[in-house]
Amino acid sequence: MVRKIGVLTSGGDAPGMNTAIRSVTRVALNNGIEVYGIYDGYRGLLEGRFMKMERSSVSETLNRGGTILGSARLPEFRELDVQEKCVETLKENGIDALVVIGGDGSYRGALALTRLGINCIGLPGTIDNDIPGTDFTIGFDTALNTCVECVDKLRDTSSSHHRCSIVEVMGNHCGDLALYTAISCGAEMVITPETGYDELEVLEKLRYLDQAIHKNHAIVIVSEKTTDIQALAKKISLNTGFSGRATVLGHIQRGGAPSPTDRMLASRMGEKAVDLLTEGIGGQCVGIIDNEISSMSIEDALERPRSSRKHLYRLFDRLV
Ligand code: F6P
Repeated sequence: MVRKIGVLTSGGDAPGMNTAIRSVTRVALNNGIEVYGIYDGYRGLLEGRFMKMERSSVSETLNRGGTILGSARLPEFRELDVQEKCVETLKENGIDALVVIGGDGSYRGALALTRLGINCIGLPGTIDNDIPGTDFTIGFDTALNTCVECVDKLRDTSSSHHRCSIVEVMGNHCGDLALYTAISCGAEMVITPETGYDELEVLEKLRYLDQAIHKNHAIVIVSEKTTDIQALAKKISLNTGFSGRATVLGHIQRGGAPSPTDRMLASRMGEKAVDLLTEGIGGQCVGIIDNEISSMSIEDALERPRSSRKHLYRLFDRLV
């Protein structure tokens, strides 16, 4: 029987993490379970920095970006002695189970703790949408909204000056944020780890858009870590009729009030996490698949390839 659970946020923050903390806290308290917030992810767990959560601890947090608990990356958490120390700290504080909100690194930590006897449930919290076992992660929709708002503005000024805007969006090694932004904004090109990058092809396509289609602007959305967009902008200015301008959206994508879609997702996932722990289940991660909240073992999720986005790349090509 679960009496006390902990909740932490780990890895890069994402809008909606607070909504998830609130959902876990309120659902658990309403089930008669005590809740402890753990500061700064696994680092706070290692250092025993906990806060007893009341109903009011999560008041007015639903619509706030970031995470009220703070987040950190702790590479040492891969080491067994560090994990064992964390289990000891949890046991000393009478905490039987844990909800971990974060990315796949956080999931690995949750799996390790479960194997050491503390049931953990993972919730996918990242703007990157790169977690297996779910169609969407908490924070992705809000980040997408931010990207769309920014690119819409860039389009206005690009059109006035016959420019090509190259916009770098986050995503780590996942192209979803770039792809969804490109479709939502009617971009001319999208470059992601999935499409690959061929500079000559990009320049050729831009010359075609300028000379054959007579477009007065072009938008190219690029996933971070794919190519140096400042260098690309210079080449575009030198080799096409467009003047190239590079914009890195950066950490602005990680902030802001969560969208209603993320609030719903985080609330539903938080509820599921508490239900699983109440049933004595650990080592699972929660996902949304075909709009249904579900869960699967973290082990399976980490081994599973993410579902293909081929149909969306095809759609993008058919819309240009
Ligand atoms: O995982 C979220 C993310 O924002 C990635 O998109 C990005 O590559 C990375 O984190 C940035 O990390 P940091 O905030 O440590 O610079």
